Amino acid sequence: MKKNDQVLIFDTTLRDGEQAPGASMNEREKMEVAQALERMGVNIIEAGFPVISKGDFDSVHMVAKRIKNCSIAGLARSVKKDIDAAASALKPARRPRIHVFLATSKIHMEHKLRKSPEEIVRIAVDAVKYARKFTDDVEFSPEDASRSDKTFLYQVLESVIKAGARTVNIPDTVGYAVPEQYGRLIADIRSNVPNIHKAVISVHCHDDLGMAVANSLSAVKNGARQVECTVNGVGERAGNCSMEEIVMALRTRQDYFGCSAATIKTQEICRASRLVSKYTGFVVPPNKAIVGGNAFRHESGIHQDGILKEPSTYEIMRPEDVGFTGLGLVLGKHSGRHALKARLKHLGVELTEEQLVKAFERFKDLSDKKKEVFDEDLIAIVEDEVREVKDVWSLDGFEVTSGTDIEPQVEVRLKTGGKVQKKRSTGDGPIDACYRAIEAITGLKGRLLNYGIQSVTHGKDAMGEVRVRVNFNGEKVMGIGASTDIIEASVKAYLNAVNKACAQSKSMGKAKGVNLGLQL
Ligand code: KIV
Ligand code: ZN
Repeated sequence: MKKNDQVLIFDTTLRDGEQAPGASMNEREKMEVAQALERMGVNIIEAGFPVISKGDFDSVHMVAKRIKNCSIAGLARSVKKDIDAAASALKPARRPRIHVFLATSKIHMEHKLRKSPEEIVRIAVDAVKYARKFTDDVEFSPEDASRSDKTFLYQVLESVIKAGARTVNIPDTVGYAVPEQYGRLIADIRSNVPNIHKAVISVHCHDDLGMAVANSLSAVKNGARQVECTVNGVGERAGNCSMEEIVMALRTRQDYFGCSAATIKTQEICRASRLVSKYTGFVVPPNKAIVGGNAFRHESGIHQDGILKEPSTYEIMRPEDVGFTGLGLVLGKHSGRHALKARLKHLGVELTEEQLVKAFERFKDLSDKKKEVFDEDLIAIVEDEVREVKDVWSLDGFEVTSGTDIEPQVEVRLKTGGKVQKKRSTGDGPIDACYRAIEAITGLKGRLLNYGIQSVTHGKDAMGEVRVRVNFNGEKVMGIGASTDIIEASVKAYLNAVNKACAQSKSMGKAKGVNLGLQL
């Protein structure tokens, strides 16, 4: 493949992705996502917006320190203070990139920035020159480029390239573009910006009209060679261009596009998708392209027959090429610990002996309750049971009385330091009542921000996986719990969040009677 046939993948899950309401991740979670991206072979990781907060600064710094095989980018507005913060956070990076942006559309210049076009060009040029003092790798984004006046856009691009920008990114900030028009914009930029050959053209599309991937592909067809995207398409509002879709579209239709994201180890895609879903709490819909649970499932008899005779009849990609492990019946009641260990290893999960013992106990319990145990069940068990934090509180048991015309009554028993503490409670629903009881026992006051439940596999005996995001005194914590009983899964998820909060704050003040405000 010629050099110009490579499309660079610039992943912004940790910056634009994390800007999605409710998607915020803590430092350790961001680090794990960065490692998954490195394993996958993305070219550039945008790790955050360092000036925004100390948390953002610290996580960019940590990613810059630990990730060796990708360029690490930090975002900055076109002001010195932002560029200083980005440069300082990126100091440990082997290949630091400062990404500066400034809006160029009439709407943004007039109403948001209140600056004339001449001032915008000057500010952009100064910012790029200033960023170049810290690194050779400077990217410039004219925010809202797709709604900017084309002639003015050409002028801005020519000026920032002259000032030293190596990459010029063309954001469709509000997801307004349509593929043909956006592709033409890229072609026009190539024809009208005299020094464009000195920079890589990048694209950054939002999905407000559901066209982020189509727009990005159209841009690639017209000469863009960097695509900015996020795992599972998470991001502001309707999200960003989805990484897995762009990568697999380029790979599957290389005959048409003539280029590909050659460095990407596509077999890592599903694993990264699961990780991002777990930490953002955004459940991947079953029909989502590439990473949805149904993406490789064939229900109709005609299709199944075709697949058995020749997979290419109905499959344009092989499930194993994206790391999709499918619904294979992997383990049964009589499978031993070695079989479990081998299967988890195949799924990319390595456990310590102690963790394996815990996971095996859960697997045995589950195989007693459930006829078939699938890969998804095993992953849920591992995520639910094998904790990175030592649990302060564990579930001893609970009882629930609930019905259409009675107020739900619960008793929850939690264990801590070898002792069991119990509490009875009522609530708007049985889950709310359980959460109130947990609050009363632990004294840890939390505000439930998100609650999501999904079935891990198919069938009446499927496990339910609950994900919650809880705000404990300003600290937002994710919790996951899985069980064949959805109330138990909900209790475990909340308790997981409580334990993480305890580990993070190491303080457990008493607070009683908090209404979680949900009718669960
Ligand atoms: O959507 C956008 O315009 C952005 C820029 C900062 C690149 O995220
Ligand atoms: Zn964006």
